[in-house]
Amino acid sequence: MTADTSPKLTPVSEPEHTPGPSLLPRPARIFVAGHRGLVGSAVARRLEADGHEVLTRGRDQLDLRDAARTEAFLRDVRPDAVVLAAAKVGGIMANSTYPVQFLEDNLRIQLSVVAGAHSADVPRLLFLGSSCIYPKLADQPIREDSLLTGALEPTNEAYAIAKIAGITQVNAYRSQYGRSYISAMPTNLYGPGDNFDLATSHVLPALIRRFHEAREADAAQVTLWGTGTPRREFLHVDDVAAACALLLNRYDEPGPVNIGCGEDLPISELASIVREVTAYQGEITWDTTKPDGTPRKLLDVTRLTELGFKPAVELRDGIAATYEWWLNQH
Ligand SMILES: NC(=O)c1ccc[n+]([C@@H]2O[C@H](COP(=O)([O-])OP(=O)(O)OC[C@H]3O[C@@H](n4cnc5c(N)ncnc54)[C@H](OP(=O)(O)O)[C@@H]3O)[C@@H](O)[C@H]2O)c1
Repeated sequence: MTADTSPKLTPVSEPEHTPGPSLLPRPARIFVAGHRGLVGSAVARRLEADGHEVLTRGRDQLDLRDAARTEAFLRDVRPDAVVLAAAKVGGIMANSTYPVQFLEDNLRIQLSVVAGAHSADVPRLLFLGSSCIYPKLADQPIREDSLLTGALEPTNEAYAIAKIAGITQVNAYRSQYGRSYISAMPTNLYGPGDNFDLATSHVLPALIRRFHEAREADAAQVTLWGTGTPRREFLHVDDVAAACALLLNRYDEPGPVNIGCGEDLPISELASIVREVTAYQGEITWDTTKPDGTPRKLLDVTRLTELGFKPAVELRDGIAATYEWWLNQH
């Protein structure tokens, strides 16, 4: 077991100025599906820190694509709430190579868990999707009501359509059966538990690894794809977990809620921060023959901010803690 280098959890999940009673009993028994993943592990840590009892099952014990076994499990343990953070997740390459699995595994997990929760009379459920559900050319910052207003990014269309089906499913249980089930769409996330495999990782862990390895190899330069000008938003997983706890406590409306920090930065600036954190002394060069992708991707977080959410982890501190966590894994 390595030391937990994630930043200290701050009590932001229930801001004092948020009115109204909590929608969760205290302590509540909460099943976190996908508790070994980047998001699920952070949510489990947060809910435990808030005094709740977290119930978990590894994929080896319960394959969530198995609807009958998932329903039997939920009927047996009868949690007060479910957080659905289990999903088949991957980068562009995996998404475009295995669209069948990205579509079908996610649809099956969602069908099992959401329908199973309803059947087992679980009163609260939070379904997690991602910002890729929004149209490729959505106005920035991206508001929740831009859902289904335009074409999706083709490379992860199968995944996005599965997630959109999940939002529709959650809303259908709300309208048809009066269930307090909700959906949330986080921005790009990073933190302890992230995937550092260069073939499948997201941009931030990939940068950390590349600069670290360049320092180890004494390389004179690191060449990155594109111009470095596209702007992206990054949120630490402890902040997304705090937002999930807040939503479970306070939010009960149809439609998804965006989870982000409301700020973005150019990839070139992100690369400079990572270079400093990893103490790499060489040059950064940009291969401008490679594609840049969407110029900007920033979520509108008005809805979440109005509930009292404020991110606690500063980007540089979060990157430093994530780097330390990864070094400890070696
Ligand atoms: N990472 C991000 O930047 C990001 C951004 C926005 C939204 N999200 C959303 O957050 C959610 C979780 O993502 P993540 O990054 O935490 O993914 P992750 O690290 O890959 O974790 C996914 C978890 O789901 C579990 N799982 C997958 N298939 C399963 C199955 N059939 N039965 C049981 N468990 C299964 C995995 O179990 P194993 O450990 O056994 O594989 C793993 O624990 C997803 O809905 C994703 O869209 C993530």
